[in-house]
Amino acid sequence: MGSEAGPAGAGGPAPAGPLVYHREQLVPAQAATLPVGSIALRYGISVFEGVRLYRQEAPGLGLRPWLLDQHLDRLRNSCRLMLLDDTCCDDVPRIIDELVAVNDTQVDSYARIAVSAVDAGGIGDGSEAALTVSVTPSGRKRWLRDGEGLRLTVSSWQRPSSAVFPSAAKNISAYAGPRLALAQAVAAGFDSCLLCTAEGLVSEAPTATVFLAEGTRLVTPRLGDAVLPGISRAWVLATAPRLGLSVAEEAVTPDRIRQADEVFLCGTGIEFGPVREVEGYTPARWPQRPATAQLVAAYFDQVRGTAASNLVTWSVKDGPDGLVTGPDEQADPVGQPGYGRC
Ligand SMILES: Cc1ncc(COP(=O)(O)O)c(C=O)c1O
Repeated sequence: MGSEAGPAGAGGPAPAGPLVYHREQLVPAQAATLPVGSIALRYGISVFEGVRLYRQEAPGLGLRPWLLDQHLDRLRNSCRLMLLDDTCCDDVPRIIDELVAVNDTQVDSYARIAVSAVDAGGIGDGSEAALTVSVTPSGRKRWLRDGEGLRLTVSSWQRPSSAVFPSAAKNISAYAGPRLALAQAVAAGFDSCLLCTAEGLVSEAPTATVFLAEGTRLVTPRLGDAVLPGISRAWVLATAPRLGLSVAEEAVTPDRIRQADEVFLCGTGIEFGPVREVEGYTPARWPQRPATAQLVAAYFDQVRGTAASNLVTWSVKDGPDGLVTGPDEQADPVGQPGYGRC
């Protein structure tokens, strides 16, 4: 990688403020720009990942990227689906380490990793991939920080089927419609929304997976229902059985969501967002939400390294083969630094 040249190129004094990695250099965040003529800006071709970095409870272990291998697998898959070269993804663990060190990042943070089509060209042209990585301090959102519940509506905007756009590709253009759905939901007084498929089945929230609890059973929509294969989703599916909860990936109608005992969103950004209302209906176990509370507690024990992490094998495959969970005795040891499987 080109950061040996020094921040913002060789020679000059190191610029103040947080540095980001952009096109093989460390540069100030405001200098990490793409040309207006790039295919990324002209046609929305830029795949990305958000990865959380958690402060470890044990002294001296610093920050640990959570489920980084799984995020990089998904990034490579997004590159493949959007016809971008994925070789730059191999450098990401080293770049994150370097950004944490150079910015002296000590608190929980969010790494954004983007692979963008940077060369100029027409819609049918090949494209050169460029990597951008930033690490920004980021704590809990208000749902976990203040114990607030989300109020959701069911949007009239739909998630496109994979015949329209590959659902497994985390590409910026896939967020254009959900952004409109979110804006409409917020304008109507809700915190967020659920988007459905053309068939009327619940898919997911604009940037998070949805789960519901029916008794001790957790249910989430199938990957085939236009769902992004979420890393948090895979973690919940792997972890819940260890907490005495069964899991299922099934067709979910809006009506089923309205009758659920608990509803929550999960994803890298929100971590967990307990839902207190879906269009005027309150989940039966609000505000206690015992299943959600159990999962949140297990999550923070694992991300902080006070409990062994589950082995989570992430996959884009739909159906029972899509998720493989290792037995308990193969769990990673508590307090391991670095990027080991989580
Ligand atoms: C559309 C969408 N669905 C689901 C998720 C949750 O995925 P993950 O848990 O991998 O962050 C995200 C966030 O990345 C997302 O953008």
